[in-house]
Amino acid sequence: MSLLFRPLFEKESSTYTYLLADVDTKEAIIIDAVDNTQQRDIDLIEELGLDLRYIVETHIHADHITSSCPLKQRFRNAQIVFGAANLITCADILIKDGENLNFGSYQMIAMTTPGHTNGCMSYIVDDKVFTGDALLIRSCGRCDFQDGSAEKLFDSIQKIFTLANETLVYPAHDYVGRTVSSIGEEKQFNEMIGDSVDKDEFMRRVNAMDLSLPAKIHVAVPANQVCGTKIMADRT
Ligand SMILES: [Fe+2]
Repeated sequence: MSLLFRPLFEKESSTYTYLLADVDTKEAIIIDAVDNTQQRDIDLIEELGLDLRYIVETHIHADHITSSCPLKQRFRNAQIVFGAANLITCADILIKDGENLNFGSYQMIAMTTPGHTNGCMSYIVDDKVFTGDALLIRSCGRCDFQDGSAEKLFDSIQKIFTLANETLVYPAHDYVGRTVSSIGEEKQFNEMIGDSVDKDEFMRRVNAMDLSLPAKIHVAVPANQVCGTKIMADRT
């Protein structure tokens, strides 16, 4: 039994897409795939002969458009997975906290981690956790749109921190080129919540983030609420 793991990067929005598969059965999942890089991802999945089963989103993104729907059209066995708190109809599976999905001998376990958006999920596979925009390397997601809540995000990150210190942390973004961290490392060094920052101080820090809105937010959020079908219509 062995796990194929391919981190992939989309440079315009600094998004990580993760492809995972059971090497023996070829059953695969992809997490947070992006429209700009959909052909690259399709080519890789086909080249490796993978059987894509789940197209997984950590949340409804505001900064890029997903390729969920185009991927599903290409890989007919695949189902689109979102957290159950997302009010969208394009998902095949609305997954709840603690539920899991199998690919080959591997399991992907869902964990609700709201705060950056109300529908944010993290997913655990083997010794890895995919934290979306809840926990970033040395940072965390913003909470100023899409029903964000710094208070909820604090509780969600504490929940993520109950994982073993050795668990590897793979976020949805990194803007300075880091690729992986660990729970133990983030508990110690995370600049928003590390070193036992309390909830009030965390909320103060999150609410003091001074960020402009993502350039694509007014296009990306509606497109992602229909799993990226809008962009396909626009291109025809
Ligand atoms: Fe996000």
